[in-house]
Amino acid sequence: MCGIVGYIGDKDACEILVEGLKRLEYRGYDSAGVALLADSRIDVMKTPGKVARLEKMVSGPRPAKVGIGHTRWATHGEPNTVNAHPHTDCTGKIAIIHNGIIENHSALKTKLISLGHKFRSQTDTEVIAHLIEEFYSRTSNLEVAVRLALKDVDGTFGLVVMSASEPDILVAARRGSPLLIGLGDSENLIASDASALIRHTRDVIYLHDNEIAVISRKNVSLKNLDDEAIEREAEHLTFDLEQIEKGGFDHFMLKEINEQPETVLNAFRGRLIDDEGISKMGGLRDVEDKIANAKRFVILACGTSWHAALVGKYILEQYAKIPVEVDYASEFRYRNPVLLDGDIVWAISQSGETLDTLAALREARGKGAPVYGIVNVVGSTIARETDAGVYIHAGPEIGVASTKAFTSQLAVLNLINLLVARKRKTISLEQGREIVAEMHRLPEKIQKILDQTDQIEAIAEEFKESRNFLYLGRGVNFPVALEGALKLKEISYIHAEGYPAAEMKHGPIALIDENMPAVFIALGDSTYDKILSNIQEVRARKGNVIVIANEADGRLRELAKHIIEIPKTLDILSPILSVIPLQLLSYYMAVKRGCNVDQPRNLAKSVTVE
Ligand code: G6P
Repeated sequence: MCGIVGYIGDKDACEILVEGLKRLEYRGYDSAGVALLADSRIDVMKTPGKVARLEKMVSGPRPAKVGIGHTRWATHGEPNTVNAHPHTDCTGKIAIIHNGIIENHSALKTKLISLGHKFRSQTDTEVIAHLIEEFYSRTSNLEVAVRLALKDVDGTFGLVVMSASEPDILVAARRGSPLLIGLGDSENLIASDASALIRHTRDVIYLHDNEIAVISRKNVSLKNLDDEAIEREAEHLTFDLEQIEKGGFDHFMLKEINEQPETVLNAFRGRLIDDEGISKMGGLRDVEDKIANAKRFVILACGTSWHAALVGKYILEQYAKIPVEVDYASEFRYRNPVLLDGDIVWAISQSGETLDTLAALREARGKGAPVYGIVNVVGSTIARETDAGVYIHAGPEIGVASTKAFTSQLAVLNLINLLVARKRKTISLEQGREIVAEMHRLPEKIQKILDQTDQIEAIAEEFKESRNFLYLGRGVNFPVALEGALKLKEISYIHAEGYPAAEMKHGPIALIDENMPAVFIALGDSTYDKILSNIQEVRARKGNVIVIANEADGRLRELAKHIIEIPKTLDILSPILSVIPLQLLSYYMAVKRGCNVDQPRNLAKSVTVE
C-alpha cells in the first residue's frame, strides 16, 4: 500500500528518492518523507500531502549519496508530519521506512517505554526503530540488530533501515510486503515496486518472505532471518511502467479483484482472538460496551457500501440479535428520520468522502446519536467526523467499480458481529471459535475462486451480447445479487436487476425468455431447495441460468447450463466468496464489450457532490 524507495551510490540520493516516490504515488499517498545520510548524520524531512510538497521542501542539490524515502497510506495514526515515515530511534541515528502492519506493536511499545525509549508518533513502524536501537546497543551491528528485532515482531513488513554509524549499507527485510533490489553500476536501489527503479536499472533481485538483504554501493548479500546465506540470480525486467503499476494485470479492477485474499487477511489481521472466539478492534476499544448494549443499529451508506450494509443487517440480526436498519444516506438525510435513545449510527464508506454519507452522519449527530465509521481511507472526512470506527485496510482502490473494498467491508462487519454477539452472549464461546477459525480460512478459499477465472471468462464470452440480466439470491446473499447487478451495470452498461429470488414470481418472471440470462446464488444453505424451484421456473420459460453454488448436486446439474462452484463456508461469511465470481463476470463482460473498465462513463470513484 505504501511506497518504499532506498538509494546508495554516488549520485544525489534525495533527487533519486523523490523521483522514485512520485512513481509510487499511484498506490495511494497521504504523506511522504525522506531520510538522508551524510557526514555521519541523518536528516529527516517529511510532510503530509503529495510528494510534490515534499519535493518543494527538499529542493536544491544535497550532499547525501545514501537515503531512504517513503510515501504513506496510513494504517496506524492520522496522516500528519509526525506519523509520516521515515521514523527514527531515540538517538536519531537509525532511520526506517516500513510497509505492512505490526500486530504486536502495543505490547512491544509498552516494553520499550519501560526500557526508557521515547516515542513521538502513533505508528507501529516507530516501534521497530526503537527495537532495532535496543539490539544495536548490544551488538553494534545493524544487520544483526535488524535480524534480532524482527524475531520479536508479529505481522507483515517490507522495510529498509539505515544507520549513521554504518553509512555504507542499507539493510532491508521482507515478510508479506514486496521489496526488490535494483542493481546499478556502483549504485544500488531498493523499492517496494519496480516502477520506482526502472529509470535507473532493469536488473533486479526480488526479496522473498523472511529474507534480509544488506545493500552497499557495489554489493548485495541475501540471508534468511535464520542467518543462512542465500544465492539468487538477478532478473531482467522487460515490462513497461503502466504494466508495472497494474501489477501485471490489464486493469486496476482485475488487480484489485486478485488482491482480495490479501486484503481480507489485512482486514482480520491482529483483530481475531482465537482462544476467546472474539474480535478486537483498536478503534472501537473505548465504545465496546456501548455497542454491545445498543438497542438498534442504523447503517448509512451509498452504492456498493450500501450493499455491504445490507449484508451487515442479515448477519447482525441473526447472530447478535440486534435490530438493524439500513438506509441510503441520501434518503436518510432528507426524510427527517427518527433516532431513539440507544441507537448507534454507522457510516460505511470506502473513500470516506461521499457527500451524501457525510451529510447523513452529520444529520444523525445533530440528533444526538453516536456515529461510528467503517472506512477505508485513513484520515478522510468521514473518518475524522465519526466518534469511533474501524478501518478496513483494503489499500487504495483505483478502479471506479468497488471490489476489494466491498469484501473488506464485509470482513469488518463480521468482526463487529462477532464482537457484539459474544458480548451480548447471543453466541457461545464454541460458536465464536468456529467463526474465527473459518475467518482464517477465507483468504485461501478466495484464491481458489480466483483460480477458476477461465471458466468465468468463457461464460462472459457466451453472454456478452445480452441486453438484460437478472441476479437472484436469498438471505445474506440477496444483497450480493444486488451487488452483482450493480457491477454489471457500472462497467458493461448492460441493464441488470437484483432481486430476492422469491420475489421473482411477483414481477421479474414476466421478463424471462431465452434472451434474459439469470444469475442465481444457490449455496448449500437452508434456502437451497427453494432456490432450486426458482431456477426451475426460469428454465421452464427457456431462460439461461448461471448458478453460483457450493458443490452442485444432480438436481442442479440437470437445470443449470453453467455452474460456478465456490468453496463452502459459514452462511454469514459466504457473501465474501459468492461476490467474487460476480465481480469477475462483470469484468470480463465489460472487457469483451470493449468498455473502459477502470473509468466507466458518467461514474466517479468518490462522489463529493449531491
Ligand atoms: C460511487 C462509487 C461506488 C461507491 C459509492 C460509495 O458511486 O462509484 O463504487 O460504492 O460511490 O462510495 P464510498 O466511497 O462512500 O464507499
